[in-house]
Amino acid sequence: MATSQTARASRPVSKDSLLIRKCQSLEEMRACVALQKEVWGLTDIELVPLRMFVVGEKVGGQVIGAFDQGTLVGFAFAIPGVRGGHSFLYSQMLAVRQRYRNAGLGRRLKLFQREDALARGFELMEWTFDPLEIKNAYLNLEKLGAITRRYNRNQYGVTSSVLQGHLPTDRLVAEWWLKSKRVETLLATGAKPSFEVLAAISVPAQIYDWKAKPETRAQAQALQDRNREAFLEAFAGGLAALGYERDPQGNGRFLLGRWEEKWAYSGS
Ligand SMILES: CC(C)(COP(=O)(O)OP(=O)(O)OC[C@H]1O[C@@H](n2cnc3c(N)ncnc32)[C@H](O)[C@@H]1OP(=O)(O)O)[C@@H](O)C(=O)NCCC(=O)NCCS
Repeated sequence: MATSQTARASRPVSKDSLLIRKCQSLEEMRACVALQKEVWGLTDIELVPLRMFVVGEKVGGQVIGAFDQGTLVGFAFAIPGVRGGHSFLYSQMLAVRQRYRNAGLGRRLKLFQREDALARGFELMEWTFDPLEIKNAYLNLEKLGAITRRYNRNQYGVTSSVLQGHLPTDRLVAEWWLKSKRVETLLATGAKPSFEVLAAISVPAQIYDWKAKPETRAQAQALQDRNREAFLEAFAGGLAALGYERDPQGNGRFLLGRWEEKWAYSGS
């Protein structure tokens, strides 16, 4: 076992060897829990437990895995939700093991989620993401075509997540309207429909360092506070984040405008 893991860790990742499919056994779901711990570094009490994966799948959610020769290297977990009388899927977690990142696997897992959701009659998937995570914002808005127009302050309280740097868990809500013109155009052509940029909110690349070190955490906190106010004001004015720019230095910028499509489920 140790030998085959060592061999797997040292060989290059080939996209062709990666298989995406629904998890089919308790062992595969247990591997999701283990990968969750590895990726977020959460304490045991904060982990989504095995029983939640089992139940989530049974009540109409999704437990989708990415496998490299039978070993789980990524997963997406979603549960069903309801708003204003409409069912939708709420994607609670997306994780890819460190050495498999930036090769399109996260996007492939989301696209598999979308196909499965469409086949079962859903038109909306939602999830939340940290507005300070440049990579996630780029993936969600630019590669998947989600939009965001809702901001939740300190959604989970302060957690043990290593990714969070002990900051309040502010979250943007990603809405992925699976059959919208925006998403269909992006997936068919690689480009989203254009929009007029009416505001922008910046996230400097240094945010990852600021969050990681206690001595610079105040800078991360100040940025979170500033951007929170900017999002709340923009969203109150009817704007949505529709695009995301990265520059060569790794800085990110949310681009906000008016979303002309009418997709919405009212209710809380
Ligand atoms: C988020 C996550 C699932 C993405 O998985 P992934 O397989 O690396 O994603 P993909 O390769 O499909 O797409 C990532 C995109 O972001 C880009 N990217 C990578 N680092 C970046 C950065 N620092 N800033 C901006 N974009 C970045 C990649 O280049 C890629 O875009 P490209 O295809 O145009 O090159 C993975 O990073 C992860 O597990 N992170 C930790 C857990 C997490 O934050 N989950 C999401 C919230 S629940």
